[in-house]
Amino acid sequence: MVYEPIVPHGKRLVERYFRREDLPVSPEGLPYVEVDGWTLADLQCLAYGAFSPLDGFLGRDDYESVLERMRLADGTVWTIPITLPVSRDVANRVGRGEYLALGQNGTVYAIVRVDDCYEPDKEREAKAVYLTDEAAHPGVNKLYARPNVYIGGPVWVFRLPEPAFPQYTFTPAQTRRLFVERGWKTIVGFQTRNPVHRAHEYIQKVALELVDGLFLNPLVGETKADDIPADVRMKSYEVLLENYYPKARVLLGTFPAAMRYAGPREAVFHAIVRKNYGCTHFIVGRDHAGVGNYYGTYDAQRIFDRFPPEDIGIIPLFFEHTYYCRRCGQMVSAKTCPHGEADHVKLSGTKVRQMLREGQMLPPEFTRPEVAQVLMEGLRVKAGS
Ligand code: ADX
Repeated sequence: MVYEPIVPHGKRLVERYFRREDLPVSPEGLPYVEVDGWTLADLQCLAYGAFSPLDGFLGRDDYESVLERMRLADGTVWTIPITLPVSRDVANRVGRGEYLALGQNGTVYAIVRVDDCYEPDKEREAKAVYLTDEAAHPGVNKLYARPNVYIGGPVWVFRLPEPAFPQYTFTPAQTRRLFVERGWKTIVGFQTRNPVHRAHEYIQKVALELVDGLFLNPLVGETKADDIPADVRMKSYEVLLENYYPKARVLLGTFPAAMRYAGPREAVFHAIVRKNYGCTHFIVGRDHAGVGNYYGTYDAQRIFDRFPPEDIGIIPLFFEHTYYCRRCGQMVSAKTCPHGEADHVKLSGTKVRQMLREGQMLPPEFTRPEVAQVLMEGLRVKAGS
């Protein structure tokens, strides 16, 4: 039987990157919109085909449908609204069917056709997507800070910012080819916005025992200020892979999107997007894409029960909260270890950051020493700069 890679979400990859001569109108002279980091990251994902089947920013029907039932208007599962917020001023200057130029610091990257223009109820969006309307939530905060009118319509991207990590930048079409070249039929995707600690390593390797390859796919778009910066994290992944992973079984590639911290809804979104990259399986552990105490530890797993598996199309692999047990002498979870808290090595993100800031080495049961070294050095350099 000929092997066929997994079908992309919505059946085919939709890439929105175009040569300049193939644009429907010239970007010169169009009303210019200065976009934020989220939108620039969304444009990159749309250009690459990572957000297939989306061809642009959501119009009102799709937006309402995503908020209400976590599906696009045509029924395709989609949990995070991908929107283009613009000021009222800009909205007043364009009519339906006209185009806007989207750029940053004066450099235009894309054009969008204005098929729709609508004012969202942001509190409602916050409650639907983030399950809270508190501005203290970093995703909600960002939502409130963005302009107040949404433009819906297809985009044509014709230029992209230089990727920060060119050797780790792949489109879904490229990762799909790489997986085939390596002979991997089953691939587990791993989303992370953190350095890979022992718990992450453990769940990746347990998953890897079941499939052919691991796609380590750290998110490198905007994260909240106290998360470890992407350049330091990338170094930490390199030393980890160098020392503890078989090269032929892992592909490291960046995921350009911004982090929303939308917990359960973002977990489904992360899974679907990794299906577009060619993954057949996707890891969802404790409090996936969570922040503070906004979501229950396993809410991001339970949300998958609300969809027939064929509507998601990628197999989620759920993991309990894992940590090191001194008595077992290995990584464990409540499913596999009978011992109590006193034997377990658990560190909160806050504690880890504090130790790193103070130049204290993280325990090897928590993080590989090579990784701890990179983090300490990276944060020291940042603090000094
Ligand atoms: S996330 O915001 O990108 O989800 P993080 O990088 O910490 O945050 O997590 C990456 C993945 O590992 C997520 O699926 C998360 O649920 C899982 N995870 C993180 N820490 C643990 C842990 N101690 N035990 C089990 N799963 C974990």
